[in-house]
Amino acid sequence: MPILDLFRLNGRRALVTGGTRGLGVEMALALAEAGAEVIVTSRDEEHLRAAKEALAGAGRRVETVQADLETPAGATAMCEKVLSEFSPIDILINNVGGRRINFPTEEMPLAEWQRIVDLNLTQAFLCTKMIGGAMLPRKHGRVINIASISGFVAGAQMRGRSYETCKAALAMFTKAVAADWAPHGVTVNAIAPGTFLTDANRRWFKERPELKAQIEKTIPMGRLGDPREIAGLAVYLASDASSYMTGSVIVIDGGRLLW
Ligand SMILES: NC(=O)c1ccc[n+]([C@@H]2O[C@H](COP(=O)([O-])OP(=O)(O)OC[C@H]3O[C@@H](n4cnc5c(N)ncnc54)[C@H](OP(=O)(O)O)[C@@H]3O)[C@@H](O)[C@H]2O)c1
Repeated sequence: MPILDLFRLNGRRALVTGGTRGLGVEMALALAEAGAEVIVTSRDEEHLRAAKEALAGAGRRVETVQADLETPAGATAMCEKVLSEFSPIDILINNVGGRRINFPTEEMPLAEWQRIVDLNLTQAFLCTKMIGGAMLPRKHGRVINIASISGFVAGAQMRGRSYETCKAALAMFTKAVAADWAPHGVTVNAIAPGTFLTDANRRWFKERPELKAQIEKTIPMGRLGDPREIAGLAVYLASDASSYMTGSVIVIDGGRLLW
């Protein structure tokens, strides 16, 4: 088969959680451009409408599901809806997550710790269990977890260590489940992004205008990632081009971890 054909996703159906903005919408668009039908989730009706319109430009079927994945009940309900209305799912991108808080550990309220664990880890477990688990009898599937370089190094400019903890755990969850599911034809990999210019970071930069330049100084390429720059990697991991890769956590960070 010609090499570029290995990247085609025609006939595949993908679920991208948090696929309305930032890295999520760019990955969803890339999958659709590569030929996949896509289902995107988010909390906000207006974000879902705008994403559906943007993604429809790729000419594939696009569906949206409104859901809040911050609670296990919300994540479970979303998975049940997707399984009953849109099965079978071939590709799952567990993209929802975020730091959201900036407490030093000695001041971190337990409820905030738990909230960030549920947002970054518990929902990824539930989606993997339910949506990924349904791939096993079909002997084919792709699970892609969006981890972070924060799973490898502590952020110097930011507190809220629940985030680092969850992303490290998500990387190890990726590897362990990959081992379990390899005999079933379902690959499980993770992407560990460095700092990309998404709404989540724009919010921090608005609060702390000096932060962007501080972060840029720590990146050998000297700039933040453009969200579109994650797209090729997502298509690779979602496609047959990555058929022999499982349990990998791939860093994409402009060289940030090199220094
Ligand atoms: N940006 C970076 O520099 C960076 C670096 C490393 C890792 N990451 C990881 O990459 C992923 C995406 O980050 P991003 O910066 O693209 O985020 P973002 O710009 O904040 O977008 C997050 C997406 O998730 C949805 N979402 C947020 N909270 C949700 C919830 N509770 N339930 C359901 N949907 C929710 C949002 O839609 P609604 O607001 O409409 O719900 C949006 O579509 C996260 O896991 C993050 O930790 C990002």
